[in-house]
Amino acid sequence: QWTTASIVDDTVAALREQIGSGRAICGLSGGVDSAVAAALVNKAVGTQLTCVFVDHGLLRAGERAQVERDFVAATGVRLVTVDAVDRFVDALSGVTDPEEKRKIIGREFIRVFEQAARDLQEEAGAAGEHIDFLVQGTLYPDVVESGGGTGTANIKSHHNVGGLPEDLQFQLVEPLRALFKDEVRRVGLELGLPETIVHRQPFPGPGLGIRVIGEVTQQRLDTLRAADAIAREELTAAGLDRDIWQCPVVLLADVRSVGVQGDGRTYGHPVVLRPVSSEDAMTADWTRLPYDVLERISTRITNEVSEINRVTLDVTSKPPGTIEWE
Ligand code: XMP
Repeated sequence: QWTTASIVDDTVAALREQIGSGRAICGLSGGVDSAVAAALVNKAVGTQLTCVFVDHGLLRAGERAQVERDFVAATGVRLVTVDAVDRFVDALSGVTDPEEKRKIIGREFIRVFEQAARDLQEEAGAAGEHIDFLVQGTLYPDVVESGGGTGTANIKSHHNVGGLPEDLQFQLVEPLRALFKDEVRRVGLELGLPETIVHRQPFPGPGLGIRVIGEVTQQRLDTLRAADAIAREELTAAGLDRDIWQCPVVLLADVRSVGVQGDGRTYGHPVVLRPVSSEDAMTADWTRLPYDVLERISTRITNEVSEINRVTLDVTSKPPGTIEWE
């Protein structure tokens, strides 16, 4: 019987063995897998590891701070944040097709990460060192799914994009390869990571980019981020975080409807609440949220987010509806 503490000890010992006095980088997504992988490597080799966090502007409220402040405070990890917000919004300008959005976001993400890796490689070179290792949060189910081989560098990040170019070849470090998701969460807690990261609900790599239905603009992202933050706050306050799998909030940016507020007529956008219950995201049922929670979310969003004058609820199971709208 493996205890969580012994998993941590064994993994740290194996990581020291693998990395030795070498240097490593790790891309953080804000999610639990990359955070726990990085925390383990950090525990093993400390400042030989540098983490890279790309802010693509498609994150939810507070997620950058969770990584920059809370994760760093909990681990002492060396972190570089790349602010690529404008770059992503520019690249998405005029794009409405969901698959096109995913492709663009994945492509830009890999380019930004590659540049960050090159910069760090250069910095290491100036100090007479070299980065040899790339840390990834591959879990046991991912290993099984991909046939179990050990790879050379292939960024299977949250964007599931392809390999790295010739000049950026790393040996992979995958400390979570033997673990299931619940074990990863336990290891994360054992390492003192914040609950907000350890129990974060699934969030797609392309982020809010696929929750703005229509063209993605900075203003639309800000509107959606505000509505999403309110929904999350109320669900947390109601103690429902562990009961739901996730609850996307979707902005129908090209739809307007007439409303009334005070003495004035409004012509704003609707958002859709998409709370789902699921075991593995392959199938899902819509969650029967308590009416009073729905009421609080609806009232707050329409009062506090001026662009939104209507809150609707998605009551479609999966299949036929996917969890995300795009
Ligand atoms: P769907 O919408 O297909 O979502 O029912 C199933 C689960 O996958 C997440 N999702 C994604 N995750 N990149 C990701 O990393 C993506 O492009 C993507 N699309 C959907 C979704 O949030 C849900 O948990």
